[in-house]
Amino acid sequence: MNHDTFKGFCKLVYDKSGIALTDSKESLVSSRVGKRMREIGLGANDYEHYLTLLHNDARGEELIHLLDCISTNVTSFWREPDHFELMTELCKKWRAAGQTRFRFWSAASSSGEEPYTMAIMAYEALGSGVDARILATDISTKILEKAMNGDYDEEKIRGVPVPLRDKYFTRAGARGGYEYTAGEALKRMISFRRLNLSAPPFPIRGPLDIVFCRNVMIYFDNGLRERLVREIYRVLKPGGYLFIGHAESLTGLNTEFKTVKPATYLKKK
Ligand SMILES: C[S@@+](CC[C@H](N)C(=O)[O-])C[C@H]1O[C@@H](n2cnc3c(N)ncnc32)[C@H](O)[C@@H]1O
Repeated sequence: MNHDTFKGFCKLVYDKSGIALTDSKESLVSSRVGKRMREIGLGANDYEHYLTLLHNDARGEELIHLLDCISTNVTSFWREPDHFELMTELCKKWRAAGQTRFRFWSAASSSGEEPYTMAIMAYEALGSGVDARILATDISTKILEKAMNGDYDEEKIRGVPVPLRDKYFTRAGARGGYEYTAGEALKRMISFRRLNLSAPPFPIRGPLDIVFCRNVMIYFDNGLRERLVREIYRVLKPGGYLFIGHAESLTGLNTEFKTVKPATYLKKK
């Protein structure tokens, strides 16, 4: 792909998702976009044609495929486990103080491992008799569909402790090639929705108790990170928490969040 066409892809991706691609990503983008072009029957050098097709894609379906091949959906159950430990502690503390309504948000939920882990922790910490809900959002409708199905193979499910796996996942009814499916209790607690984090404000009223916005801001520039973090601050309750990825930081952003420890932030009361 020539450099001008690469810049055309960068602009489109940035405008539609906030993902900021630098020149160092040129060969990666060429090969990933090339693979997608082959899948839809375009020739090896049809980059400009593909870019035009994307611009004319009124329903945005091909754009989702482009974003899927450019961003990574890598995730796992219990990823960065200290966040789930703190979530458990907070839930128990709030419950002991009489709170019965809990609202959590997994803001880049990918294939569902993060919100399903949150749901398991919420059930384990809060027990029954509470009103607990998780909103799980992602820009990719393809990955959201995967998350909603909740099917995981042996390797993926290995991240779930066996007693919790047996309690919250079922083997029966899993689709071909997948050994485990998230059980009805998990699915009931989570609402999956498409949401583009690069376009705040979001149709979320809050107040939320905890927001997980992990391993997605890494793709954004500081301007967007600041707008996103401000919006998360708005939807959190005073005393609510924001978790970001351990490879990310709010350092240098103009934000009212108080740092509790790396990757963990508090909206002060
Ligand atoms: C690396 S995964 C992170 C998954 C999970 N939060 C974790 O930490 O394991 C990044 C996810 O961000 C999503 N994403 C990228 N840009 C986005 C945007 N503008 N709005 C919402 N989601 C986005 C991708 O589709 C992908 O599923």
